[in-house]
Amino acid sequence: MFPDPKSRSAKLTQRAMQVLPDGGSRSTIRMTPHAIYVKEGHGGRVTDVDGNTLLDFNNNFTSLIHGHAHPRVVEAIQKQAPLGTAFSFATEAEIELAEMLTARVEGFDMIRFCNSGSEAVMNAIKAARAFTGRPRIAKCEGAYHGSYDFAEVSLGSGPDHWGDETRPESVPYSHGTPGGVLSDVIVIPFNDVARAEAILDAHADELAGVVFDPVSTQIGLLPPSPEFLDMLVRFRERSGALLIFDEVIAFRQGHGGSQTLLGVTPDLTALGKIIGGGLPVGAVAGSREVMSVFEVSGAKARLPHGGTFNANPLTIVAGRAAMTDWTPEAVDNLNAKGEQCREALREAIRIANVPGQVTGSGSLFRIHVHGRQMTTYRDTYPTAAEAERTHALAHGLIGEGVFTSTYGLGCLSTSTSDADVARLADATVTVYRAMREKGLYDAD
Ligand SMILES: Cc1ncc(COP(=O)(O)O)c(C=O)c1O
Repeated sequence: MFPDPKSRSAKLTQRAMQVLPDGGSRSTIRMTPHAIYVKEGHGGRVTDVDGNTLLDFNNNFTSLIHGHAHPRVVEAIQKQAPLGTAFSFATEAEIELAEMLTARVEGFDMIRFCNSGSEAVMNAIKAARAFTGRPRIAKCEGAYHGSYDFAEVSLGSGPDHWGDETRPESVPYSHGTPGGVLSDVIVIPFNDVARAEAILDAHADELAGVVFDPVSTQIGLLPPSPEFLDMLVRFRERSGALLIFDEVIAFRQGHGGSQTLLGVTPDLTALGKIIGGGLPVGAVAGSREVMSVFEVSGAKARLPHGGTFNANPLTIVAGRAAMTDWTPEAVDNLNAKGEQCREALREAIRIANVPGQVTGSGSLFRIHVHGRQMTTYRDTYPTAAEAERTHALAHGLIGEGVFTSTYGLGCLSTSTSDADVARLADATVTVYRAMREKGLYDAD
């Protein structure tokens, strides 16, 4: 079991290092001292190339709402693949998935597909700029919205750079981020109504939109307060800036996404992950008026949007199959299991008698290795000792045959059973006890 320097995974990591920078193509799944190479996945389990089986509470970072190799999705792909996987023509399936999704959400009059959540956020931001004619966007401090450089500003920012809390800095995430990008992104403190409102008001005339994730994993999966949501809606109304929800993850929270549960209708929504049934996907949805930026009028659209693999039929049929089985009953059952899971984890923390807490809602959870009260991004920022514990917990769980993520985030799929939840909770107790014995809690 991981980590094992003699394993096939360890050897493949060494081989990968020769041809792939850092051994792979996704910074977000990097693991040390070596990656785990997977051979196959079925339902809630994956088996690695060394024959180890892991209970998967990550589901490719929340994208597999039915777990791995869901039979209806596999069948859809098997039917489509021999007919062709990508055309420079339209397919009827694209209309069907668009009809299915727009029927579920009040604010989705129209939808436009692309290939990743990052692209979806990028297109939503570009659509807001094209619609309003304004250059800047606002986002919450620390929030993750994919890898578009404007969306990355302030991601993971820490005490050394984040500046005063009355006016968080626009901190670059990647080296070489142009200064123009930084100055076009206004950062607001999550859940701090008065400060966020003052910052937004100071830029009201220049903002194309405010990008907001109602279940931000990098803000600890803390719920937005009703007052904060209300402030965003009021700001949209008086400023003309668009409200852009990033529901790349949040869409899994309800049959009509998080926005339906919260009773907020954003102008634009970025989608991804579950709507592709496990294949690469993204989409922007919104009102007919705002989505008209994609329509040609005169020589070209206000926002021309190409993409060789946009709405490719393989993704679309897989997404259609996954969304067909994502019924209101399936959502309710999964979310009830999510609550059961969060409670089981809280009980595990009590049994292990360590400081900790569990946040999240619907089918998402995040385990925190401290008991500190958290409301804003800065409250969630880990101390060095907490970062070490989080790492130890994630690696310890893998040793117990359970995978969440490297930072305590986890999610369920419709294939998660009661026994799976119990196993995660038991493994958490075991790992926490081992961490305490190793002295990782001695400072408390
Ligand atoms: C909230 C959010 N937005 C955007 C993205 C980017 O999606 P993708 O990885 O498909 O580019 C992610 C990915 O995890 C996400 O969690």
